[in-house]
Amino acid sequence: MGVDQDIERVLVNNEQLQQCVARLGTEITKDYAGKKLLVLGILKGAVPFMADLIRQIKIPIVYDFMAVSSYGFSTKSSGVVRILKDLERSVEDVHILIVEDIVDTGLTLKYLKDNLLGRNPLSVKVVTLLDKPSRRGAAVSPDYNGFSIPDEFVVGYGLDYNENYRNLPYVGVLKREVYER
Ligand code: IMP
Ligand code: MG
Repeated sequence: MGVDQDIERVLVNNEQLQQCVARLGTEITKDYAGKKLLVLGILKGAVPFMADLIRQIKIPIVYDFMAVSSYGFSTKSSGVVRILKDLERSVEDVHILIVEDIVDTGLTLKYLKDNLLGRNPLSVKVVTLLDKPSRRGAAVSPDYNGFSIPDEFVVGYGLDYNENYRNLPYVGVLKREVYER
C-alpha cells in the first residue's frame, strides 16, 4: 500500500517546500544576525520543516522542543491546550522563534506565545510553514509564513491525521472520505 493513496491532490510539492524554506532561512538569518536565538519546534508537526529550516539559518542557534496538545484525534480545534513537554532551560537571555507546522485558528499559538512571554525572553516570534488566515479569530498571526492555504484539511511534511501521513515529502489535501468514514 502506498502512502499517496489517500491524497486528493498535492498542494505544495517538495521543490516548492525547499524553495520556501530557503527563503525563510535567509530572512531569519538576516533578522537575527548578532542575536542569541532559540529555535523552538512544536512537536510533532514541526519536525520535518524545522529540520530543513535550521540548515538554512546561517548564524549560530540553539534549538529545543515543546509538545502541546490541541486537536486530540479530531480535525477541529478544541481551544484546549495542554503542555505535554516543556523547555529544558530558562529563556530570559534569548530571542525565541517558535516553529509551527500550521496556524489554523491560532488558539494554540496564542496560548504558547502568552505562556512563553510570561517567562521574560528577549522576544517571541513565530515562523509557520502553512497559514489558514480564513480561520483566524482574535488570536495571533505568524511573523514568518511559508504558504497561505485555503481552509482544507492537509497532511504531509509533518502534518498528520490521526498521527499518519507525517512522512509524506509534500503537503497534500486529504480525501474527505478518509476522515468522514
Ligand atoms: P490551531 O490552534 O487551530 O491554530 O491549530 C493548530 C494545530 O492544529 C496545528 O499545529 C496542527 O497540529 C493542527 N492542524 C490545524 N489544521 C490542520 C490541517 O489542515 N492538517 C493537519 N493538522 C492541522
Ligand atoms: Mg496534529
